[in-house]
Amino acid sequence: MAFDKQRFIIAISLLTAFLSYSFYIYSSLPVKDYHISEQSNNGKMVWQKYNCIACHQLYGLGGYLGPDLTNVYGIRDTYYIRSFIQNGTNIMPAFHLSDKETTELISFFKTINETGSSDPRTFTIQPNGTIKQ
Ligand code: HEC
Repeated sequence: MAFDKQRFIIAISLLTAFLSYSFYIYSSLPVKDYHISEQSNNGKMVWQKYNCIACHQLYGLGGYLGPDLTNVYGIRDTYYIRSFIQNGTNIMPAFHLSDKETTELISFFKTINETGSSDPRTFTIQPNGTIKQ
């Protein structure tokens, strides 16, 4: 009987530790509340509809035929991006998107660009092992 009581106390302590640590972790996540405009959200749908991720990456994930586009908005001007999307090149297909779809895509790129950098060379590793961008 005494043995069972001991087990019970251990189980309760582990459960309490688990719950308090989970609460601590989830209440201090470094996630910002980004506002995503309707235009940008539509851009995300265009991105998915034409499967741009088949050749491009966001945050380093995706296909590797084309470049990572996480920060394309910060690196290139909008005319450059627009002309790539509408005309393509000899290795990127021309999607003949409408002006509206292109503007929405660019708005999506703007939002993604604001969420951080995908280039690991710009990351700083902090003493506790996390990454600061
Ligand atoms: C079949 C593969 C493929 C698909 C699908 C594709 N791309 Fe590309 N994309 C490429 C390649 C390859 C390049 C580099 C082309 C070059 O430099 O000539 C590129 C370049 C770009 C660039 C210019 C990037 C830079 O910094 O120079 C943009 C912007 C872009 N793509 C947007 C898109 C969007 C938006 C879509 C979806 C509508 C898309 N791509 C779908 C292959 C693709």
